Amino acid sequence: MRVRRCKVLYLEPREEVAFDLQDLLAGGDGVARQRRWFALAPHSRGQVPVDAAARDVLGGLSPERWVEEEMLSPAQREALPALVEAGLVVCDEPAHAAMLARDEALRAAHWHPLAATAHALTRWNGVDTTEAMRNTGTQTAPELRQVLGPPPPEAIVPPRAGAPLPLPVPEATGFDALLRRRATCRNFDRGRPLPMEELSRLLHRVFAAQGTVRVTGDTVFLKKNSPSGGGLHPVEAYLLVQQVEGLDAGLYHYDPLAHALRPLPAPPGSLDGFALQAVAGQTWFAQAHVLAILAPRYARNFWKYRQHAKAHRAVVLEAGHLSQTLYLAATEAGLAAYVTCAINEDCLDEALGLDPVNEGVLAVCGFGWRGQVMETMELDPLGAAWQVPPPPN
Ligand SMILES: Cc1cc2nc3c(=O)[nH]c(=O)nc-3n(C[C@H](O)[C@H](O)[C@H](O)COP(=O)(O)O)c2cc1C
Repeated sequence: MRVRRCKVLYLEPREEVAFDLQDLLAGGDGVARQRRWFALAPHSRGQVPVDAAARDVLGGLSPERWVEEEMLSPAQREALPALVEAGLVVCDEPAHAAMLARDEALRAAHWHPLAATAHALTRWNGVDTTEAMRNTGTQTAPELRQVLGPPPPEAIVPPRAGAPLPLPVPEATGFDALLRRRATCRNFDRGRPLPMEELSRLLHRVFAAQGTVRVTGDTVFLKKNSPSGGGLHPVEAYLLVQQVEGLDAGLYHYDPLAHALRPLPAPPGSLDGFALQAVAGQTWFAQAHVLAILAPRYARNFWKYRQHAKAHRAVVLEAGHLSQTLYLAATEAGLAAYVTCAINEDCLDEALGLDPVNEGVLAVCGFGWRGQVMETMELDPLGAAWQVPPPPN
């Protein structure tokens, strides 16, 4: 059997803390602490405890050059099966072909290794953030303050800054009025369907290619209403349509060149349930008439920015730009919007058929009609979105 180390792997010395009744009864603080080394590997999404012998093998094997297993010392060979099983060491045995393929896919995708690791190991599956907030007693702002203490101040004077130079008070224009009406919506009016024309206009403004630059037949840059690193526009928009006139509820992909929607297979279970799972149990967001799921094709950005330290950051920023354009386009149309990255990526990627090494869901936006009653808190101290100041929380 020929072996080599997987391409990307980091070792973390981790202390795990658990409640220990025996310790408490014996007069201790009731906290058991255990320190172990973990190998973090993005291709397998593994966080695998590794002992000294395993670390020795991982440090000794090349991630590029294959070696025959027989070349390893007896101690190293003893540690090998568990490492192969976990995918930290890849081999040419057919039984482990799947892990080898994952490692090959990561090698081909040109991720910066640190970004790949954070991307793979910060994904959620089955997380319910509302339950987490309930459990930690941090559902409201006053509760947050009580549990966490005071936050860093809301504004700062840099220690080396000089005296303030007052600026002229700007005259408000219509653009200011639009900006003021933008408020993250957590109360959607599902009694009122979204007209198809509104959906179409919004998608066209936010996600459509307004122009193209064709360098060669296979190399095309896009112009959209938001900026994009290298003009590559790798962020795809998938839609979870819940209530639009003349459009079946379900999953769609938006084509930014054809300005068209293509239906996709239905996700498992009910669409309501899937939406709620997607936004990690945030009932206020799951209600939106349409969820716009932002899923970068990392491979398109990394085609130019290979193993680039800033490439992943650029893609994340781009999703933020798209969401802000969506907020403003929705607000201008009398609609309301939100963005969240508190999402269960696993269920979304699976339903959309995406492999997160090359493309995967990064954030979810939603939009639709704002409701008449603020049941869930929104931040609108000027009453610009709600006309009247929100009730104190
Ligand atoms: C990247 C990002 C993630 C967010 N995630 C959540 C979220 O998970 N849940 C939520 O209720 N609001 C979320 N928000 C909305 C913020 O809470 C909101 O922007 C903030 O309270 C300020 O309110 P405003 O957008 O109305 O000005 C998010 C905003 C951003 C920019």
